[in-house]
Order: sequence, then C-alpha cells, then structure tokens
Amino acid sequence: MSPETPVVVLSRREFARLAGLACMAAACSTDDGGLTAPTATGVTINGNTMTLTVGDNPTLNQSNGMVLVPQRSVLVLRVASGQYQALSSVCTHQGCTVSTFDGSRLTCPCHGSQFNASGTVAKGPATSALRAFPTTFDSGTGMISVNLS
Ligand code: FES
Repeated sequence: MSPETPVVVLSRREFARLAGLACMAAACSTDDGGLTAPTATGVTINGNTMTLTVGDNPTLNQSNGMVLVPQRSVLVLRVASGQYQALSSVCTHQGCTVSTFDGSRLTCPCHGSQFNASGTVAKGPATSALRAFPTTFDSGTGMISVNLS
C-alpha cells in the first residue's frame, strides 16, 4: 500500500449493509449456500394488498428463492414448490435487513440471528419472530398476493 492510499475502516454492521446493497440488483450466493434477496420487480401495492408474479421474479422458482420488497420491508420466499411466504425483512434484534435464505433458514447479516421460513427464531440473539403476512399463490397466473394488514 502506498502512503497515499486511503484506509477505510467499516464496522461489521456497515460492511454488511454495503454488501447487501451491492447484491440488491441481482441474486448473490453466500458462503453457506444461501441466497441474498434481489429486489422484487413488478410489485403492485393497492391498499393492504401487495402482488407480484413469479414470472417477473424468476428467483422465486429456485428452492432457496427470495425477493425483497424494500418499499414495504417485506421478503417473499419460496418455501416449497408453489408455496410462498411473506415475512417482514426487519430483524427483531436490532432492525437490520434480513437478507439471506438457504431454503430453510433466513439469516440476519448483522449479528447472525436465524429464522425459520415461517419467521420463528431458530437462533439468537433475536428472541422474537419476524412478522408473517398471509400469502396466497395462484398457480394459473403465477400471482403471489400478500395481505399486509
Ligand atoms: S440486528 Fe439482526 S441479529 Fe442483530
């Protein structure tokens, strides 16, 4: 390193936040085989109903597929073929964005809390479940509907 090279020191939290932002545009794999959620496309929000399609979000065809709807802080994940779950992306520990899903567990990048696909805590330090939203899937249209109320 030359004497002119600036040194930037990031906290673990800031590093995780920046890494998450870098992955927002595309699905990024993680070391543990998880997938960092890309931002959902084609989302419609009408009152308390949010809709999106699997066709617009092909990540949701993968076994560990998940997308983030940042404007409502909601994750939509594929829990099984033709079955989807919507959860709050706000970690119940200190509010970081939960961003990684390995097909069965979600992981918060800040302090490592893990949540089951239903939102319940699998590993602390978080002690409360992620909020779950009633979610339906129409296999004919590929439409996922989430009740945000
Ligand atoms: S904010 Fe998620 S584990 Fe701490």
